[in-house]
Amino acid sequence: MNEMNVALIYYSRTENTRNAFEFLKHTIEQKNVNVDMIRIIPEKDPGFFKAMSASRNQEELPIRNKEDPLLDYQTIIVGVPSWAYYPAPFYKSYLRHVKDLDKKKIGICLCAGVSIQRNMITMKRYTEEMKTLGISSIDADLIIIVRKGKIVDGQQHVKGFIEKLFYNNFYYRHIL
Ligand SMILES: Cc1cc2nc3c(=O)[nH]c(=O)nc-3n(C[C@H](O)[C@H](O)[C@H](O)COP(=O)(O)O)c2cc1C
Repeated sequence: MNEMNVALIYYSRTENTRNAFEFLKHTIEQKNVNVDMIRIIPEKDPGFFKAMSASRNQEELPIRNKEDPLLDYQTIIVGVPSWAYYPAPFYKSYLRHVKDLDKKKIGICLCAGVSIQRNMITMKRYTEEMKTLGISSIDADLIIIVRKGKIVDGQQHVKGFIEKLFYNNFYYRHIL
């Protein structure tokens, strides 16, 4: 798995998604892969009610990141919190300007507070919304439940998530 560059792109309002992504980064790095974390920086973090309505409407709120730094990454993992059972819409503001998304392997991750079961609908919406960005299929998805800064569920799915992203095509096609 050498020569593989992975970008973990995330938005985090209260650091749970960032913490979950630190864990993911550490786990992926054990596979001898280069991993970079890219934080989506909003022009302004929305308050609770604005966050709820923006998420429900999948409104693209303004962000400060302007560059397209993803050219060198073959695989990207995009992570946002669950807000009102929709993915916090900052991922859209970011990915909207990234070129050649359809040529990359894409994993999506939700960081939520309630339960994996209740957030299955959030993940379905996340996958559907990706189509509006020209991403017709997602290679792997993951829901992590974090409470009081601790991962309480979803950790058991991380291994499968990584295997789907890195082994399904790459490993079987190029190594076996
Ligand atoms: C505005 C708002 C709405 C939320 N809505 C949900 C929700 O619908 N379902 C859920 O499971 N968690 C919900 N949560 C909890 C967050 O998804 C959870 O705390 C997440 O880990 C926050 O990630 P962050 O710390 O990276 O911002 C909500 C939190 C906020 C602030």
